[in-house]
Amino acid sequence: MSLAAAIRTIPDYPKKGILFRDITTLLGDAKAFRRAVDELVQPWSGSKMDKVAGMEARGFILGGAVAHQLSAGFVPIRKKGKLPYKTVAVAYELEYGVDEMEMHEDAVTKGERVILVDDLIATGGTAQGAIRLLQKQGAEVVAACFVIDLPDLGGARKIEAMGVPVRSLIAFDGH
Ligand code: PRP
Ligand code: MG
Repeated sequence: MSLAAAIRTIPDYPKKGILFRDITTLLGDAKAFRRAVDELVQPWSGSKMDKVAGMEARGFILGGAVAHQLSAGFVPIRKKGKLPYKTVAVAYELEYGVDEMEMHEDAVTKGERVILVDDLIATGGTAQGAIRLLQKQGAEVVAACFVIDLPDLGGARKIEAMGVPVRSLIAFDGH
């Protein structure tokens, strides 16, 4: 069973020329979902991890499962205006324009070891914003982990350049 085969590819979504990598088929396949989470946690299974941070929305699904398996806490990083307590915010780049993401200011404490989890890294803008928030609050971002990397878009290189190792389970050429 290959993880890549469990991911559905939809041409021309959300617009012409884009190949959308749809993980809902992987999530709906019990064996594939288990395997993806097992592979994501594998490097950290023997080490102490304080928190797993996940980005809204798809990062919540995988990040929550990874946190549970590592017996770590979970930190939601959300799109602007969704969190009820005091937040720290950062602007991040989208394909067109910028948006803001937020995290509760006390979601991590200084020196906590955190891994970041999301379904996919493309340009790396989302992961870069999340790492900035975590580091601003003093966390040590040990790694950024993804099911899918689109290496042509250069996101993983951008994150490695911040000094954060990147781990991804599958790479798809083209985008
Ligand atoms: C997608 C994906 C990643 C991000 C990757 O999320 O789930 O979070 O894009 O792109 P980047 O590396 O170029 O930043 P999206 O913003 O579409 O939202 P969703 O997770 O809420 O569906
Ligand atoms: Mg996302």
